[in-house]
Amino acid sequence: MEKPTSTIPLLSGYGSYFETEAIVGAIPKGQNNPQKCPFGLYAEQLSGSAFTMPREKNLRTWLYRILPSVKHGKVVAAPEEAPFLTEGTNLTPERLRWKPLDYSLFEKSTDFIQGLVTVGTQGDPTSRDGVAVHLYVANSSMENKCFFNSDGDWLIVPQEGGLRVQTELGLLPLHPGHIAVIPRGVKFRVELLDEKARGYICEVYTGHFELPDLGLIGSNGLAAPRDFHYPVAYYEEKEVPFTVIQKYGGQLFRFSLDHSPFDVVGWHGNYAPFIYDLSRFCPVNSVLYDHMDPSIFTVLTCKSSVPGLAVVDFVIFPPRWMTQEHTFRPPYFHRNCMTEYMGLIRGIYDAKAEGFVPGGASLHSMMSAHGPDATTFEKASHMELSPSRIGEESLAFMFETSRVLKLTDWALDPKHLDVHYIECWQSLKKLASLSLNKVD
Ligand SMILES: [Fe+2]
Repeated sequence: MEKPTSTIPLLSGYGSYFETEAIVGAIPKGQNNPQKCPFGLYAEQLSGSAFTMPREKNLRTWLYRILPSVKHGKVVAAPEEAPFLTEGTNLTPERLRWKPLDYSLFEKSTDFIQGLVTVGTQGDPTSRDGVAVHLYVANSSMENKCFFNSDGDWLIVPQEGGLRVQTELGLLPLHPGHIAVIPRGVKFRVELLDEKARGYICEVYTGHFELPDLGLIGSNGLAAPRDFHYPVAYYEEKEVPFTVIQKYGGQLFRFSLDHSPFDVVGWHGNYAPFIYDLSRFCPVNSVLYDHMDPSIFTVLTCKSSVPGLAVVDFVIFPPRWMTQEHTFRPPYFHRNCMTEYMGLIRGIYDAKAEGFVPGGASLHSMMSAHGPDATTFEKASHMELSPSRIGEESLAFMFETSRVLKLTDWALDPKHLDVHYIECWQSLKKLASLSLNKVD
């Protein structure tokens, strides 16, 4: 398996404490905040956890930059920056499926922030508890403009189009089949590497994304820490007007700078954005019979305070071998106390014969019945079982959350929905013939 192809240098190792300098000597030796920093840089700490969190949960990074972040203009409300980034207010337990986000939704030039569309939200970012699902489309790069989110971490899942993400801590390449996590507070801008781009975003107001515990699986398998890549320090010294967009309490604000905020010459710490190539995921599964719960495919989790209960899990369904004997191999019919938002990056998902297309999505909310469609049930009930690879060209994913999503008006607009979705189960037939046991 090849490493991610990129000329951008990256650091490896989930949860590591990194130290990186674009100019040798930019990081002070022996202390974090000396009376005078090397080269006349300013020292600034970015805290991703409360100061007093236990050591294993304590997240912070020291930045050594040309100008401190505090030097910026007046903050003003800016809801027009992303008109479809809204709070969800509608509830329905109906099973829903969406068509891919239409690129023509925005007729003019649209960058990554302008092209944000919220599907649903739950909780309150001002109490730092909850989750949100957004989509994005873009056909232009962010020029002299950046964004940061005070409300939580963003897990970005590109579906079409490569991105070059410039963050305060350095550059990250991001392509379909990879994911990025941009932690709360980190400024970034998105350049398009292709004509257009589209994808999904899971936002957590609660805590941070982390690797799941492996329990009885042992010390190997699923996503390996060494396959997570972090940026090296990369700075630009530009005295140009710059616009910063801030998401704060679910609302957008704007302020100006007279210089590029990407002026961090060196940094050290364990709070930083990262990318991960989903093809590196090492799946485990049943090797004799029955279908395991999808939690076996968890890449990252955002834990709640209840052991084993995630605020949200990020789960993928990668290409893999299916070997189970005398088993209905597609996902089983089920009702779940969690809420499942699924997306498709490429290919065909094995539980749906048609209708669930790349760029589209489905939502099966708490206790709403779902499962394979009638065509898939029929086929999988009669197929001859032998070891076989599935999902060869396919990559589906799920945001599985313990929260109930309130949907936006955009999400419930029939224009964006596959309004015939629930028909996929209506031709399921009664198969049992129990007349001998009938009670008169
Ligand atoms: Fe499900």
